[in-house]
Amino acid sequence: MVLSLVLLWVCTCLLLFLVRTRRPKNFPPGPQPMPIFGNLLQLNLENPIKDLIKLSDQYGKVFSIYFGSRPAVIITGMDAMKEALVTKAVDFAGRPDGLLLSHLTQGKGIIMAHYGTSWREHRRFALMTLRNFGLGKQSMEQRILGEVSYVSDHLEKHAGELIDPQTLFHNASCDIICSIMFGSRYEYEHEFFQAMIKMMAENSKIANGPWGMIYDTMPLLRNLPLPFQTALKDYHTVKMYVLDIVNEHRASRTPNKPRDVIDGYLDEMDKRGEDSAPFEEDQMLTMLLDLLFAGTDTTSNTIRAAVLYLMAYPDIQERCHQEIDSVLNGKEAPSFEDRHHMPFVQAVIHESQRAASTLPLSVFHCTTKDTELTGYQIPKNTLVIQNLSSVLFEEKQWKHPHGFHPDNFLNEQGEFEKPPAFMPFSIGPRTCLGEGLARMELYLILTTLLLRFQFIWPEGAGEPDFTPVYGVTQAPRPYKMMVKLRRK
Ligand code: HEM
Repeated sequence: MVLSLVLLWVCTCLLLFLVRTRRPKNFPPGPQPMPIFGNLLQLNLENPIKDLIKLSDQYGKVFSIYFGSRPAVIITGMDAMKEALVTKAVDFAGRPDGLLLSHLTQGKGIIMAHYGTSWREHRRFALMTLRNFGLGKQSMEQRILGEVSYVSDHLEKHAGELIDPQTLFHNASCDIICSIMFGSRYEYEHEFFQAMIKMMAENSKIANGPWGMIYDTMPLLRNLPLPFQTALKDYHTVKMYVLDIVNEHRASRTPNKPRDVIDGYLDEMDKRGEDSAPFEEDQMLTMLLDLLFAGTDTTSNTIRAAVLYLMAYPDIQERCHQEIDSVLNGKEAPSFEDRHHMPFVQAVIHESQRAASTLPLSVFHCTTKDTELTGYQIPKNTLVIQNLSSVLFEEKQWKHPHGFHPDNFLNEQGEFEKPPAFMPFSIGPRTCLGEGLARMELYLILTTLLLRFQFIWPEGAGEPDFTPVYGVTQAPRPYKMMVKLRRK
């Protein structure tokens, strides 16, 4: 039995090898794919970014590779990125089917939703409710500053000791989203909160790593008991937790007096009446999970990267301390408005985002119609991968493309200036909808912590290692830090 299966497999491979995959006419060029695997074995699955850059040196800024039998177009560098996502925005605004992420969400919610009415209305709703629950208003600042006080208390308690900041920053970012969506933050020790954080961490490990790639590339393996089954099961469990919270809201809400995003969504369903589509329960749950997932790892990994660089470059940290002390001039806490008077701190935060390159390959897109890019023809429904990292480190776009140089964001007068190649949130119609919130979080969290603490790289810990751990959301390597209290 086993022998016949192996023989069948070998024959299938040979057959596939003989009928070699051919790229469509005038499709972006790329390396010859292998049967079954496509170009997967030519990439370092632990971190394919360098291989993708090498391939673009060989084949051009727009080239293609095969995930199994599925072709994908890779966009490299700012010019091609702008042509696709701005000039031909609608053509490139789709999301692909058939990936682990799309199966988890069943194409509902926002992140993996197809370009169409449901995505547009949910995106508009999420942006509006984020605004109503404080973005651009005082209350969002208060929510963020409130959360930072828990982080500060923890750091103060452990000043002078070795601290692993990973869970701390992760909890804080997640709790800020919880307070906007569910109306309340959770104690970090809370059972639901811990279970949710654990599952999110496990799921991103699976989705981010080689298992995610294998799932996306080899549909034949999807039903086997491999780690991606855990991701599917865990996702469902967190969804059921969130359903409980929604049901609690149903019981305690006053219609048209929304306390949070859930109440706002229930009001919207009421307003639309019997046929509330596309606003319905499963869409709401997926949207809530989208915001939780999208807003947690991204922000906390960026903060962790910023702190790593601040410790590695104490002179840069010292300049931040001086600027913050002088602008706040004895004030208890910063306000978001103060950023306009802190060009250097702003430059450090933006340079941290550039160096961290938190979503190096963005979220995968697909074409919504037959289209063209840099003269190549790309059919409808083709998988499109934006190499955002290639723009954030593109030689011709930056004064200092490599290393950590806040100077990249300062003009000759020492004023803060954002070069057009700064696109960690992507660009175009699918650009990150949490950008406003993320920018406020990064500024308020880092400035408040710098006001109160000095971050110190522990003696005997060797040199800081900036090599990231690759993933859909890329993270700095785990590290330990120390803090010294600057002021109470
Ligand atoms: C430093 C923090 C963050 C970074 C670097 C980041 C980056 C990104 C990127 C690159 C995309 C993909 C855009 C594309 O497909 O072209 C994205 C999408 C998205 N982000 Fe963020 N993000 C961050 C924080 C957040 C936060 C705090 C939230 C939510 C509150 C959020 C919600 C979303 C959503 C819902 C999408 C999907 C948008 C759509 O498909 O229309 N993000 N983000």
